[in-house]
Amino acid sequence: MKYDIRTMPNDRVLVSPSLLAADFRHLEQDITQAVAAGADMLHLDVMDGHFVPNISFGVPVIKSLRKSCDLLFDTHLMISEPKRYARVFADAGSDHITFHIESDDDVDETIKEIRDCGCTVGISLKPATPAEAVFPYLDKIDMVLVMTVEPGFGGQSFMADMMAKTAAVKEEIQRRSLNVKLQTDGGIDENTVGVSASHGSNIVVAGTAVFRHPQGMKYAIEKLHAASAVLDKNVLEK
Ligand code: DX5
Ligand code: ZN
Repeated sequence: MKYDIRTMPNDRVLVSPSLLAADFRHLEQDITQAVAAGADMLHLDVMDGHFVPNISFGVPVIKSLRKSCDLLFDTHLMISEPKRYARVFADAGSDHITFHIESDDDVDETIKEIRDCGCTVGISLKPATPAEAVFPYLDKIDMVLVMTVEPGFGGQSFMADMMAKTAAVKEEIQRRSLNVKLQTDGGIDENTVGVSASHGSNIVVAGTAVFRHPQGMKYAIEKLHAASAVLDKNVLEK
């Protein structure tokens, strides 16, 4: 692990651009631009065609990119057997690995395996999975990822009905005074980032809204960072 998500700030919105929306003809160029534009980390969506109905990229791509990118690698495993593959993704250069609670592998064993590989750990919840499902694991992990679309594809619409779940996870993290980050992923752009931040998510994943923004990545990331002004507001006001 090169970078540690645990030491990143909690008091402002951090942007994790999803590589899925980059132009695969020139990934290095796109990532270099994202870094220059202010990206806080890089979100790597790994899909196995089994856990989700799509196949993206895997170990060799991450390994190559590691050589030319000095950002925290935030790997999102949308695969059926995260415990089995955690080590190869850690060795490829992931700093942080998020897996799905709905995957086939035992949750505690997967957390331990990712830790043993030297990475920080995140658990992701699909839209149909309630907030409470992650509560028993909160003191063993570093991040919760609340999906705001069905995992599998970029470019989908933000599900605003996931905000109650986001706030519920945040409240539980705060109630127990845990250092657990809260990330939202899917359909996040300058119009939806505010509601996400106001419900407690301080790490936003954005693919289309960063790599394909008509006004460029710098403008896009600035707009997303601007949601820091409303971070946690609803939660804290309760
Ligand atoms: C969806 C992925 C997301 C996706 C986000 O399965 O986990 O990270 O790439 O893409 P946008 O921001 O385009 O919704
Ligand atoms: Zn993702």
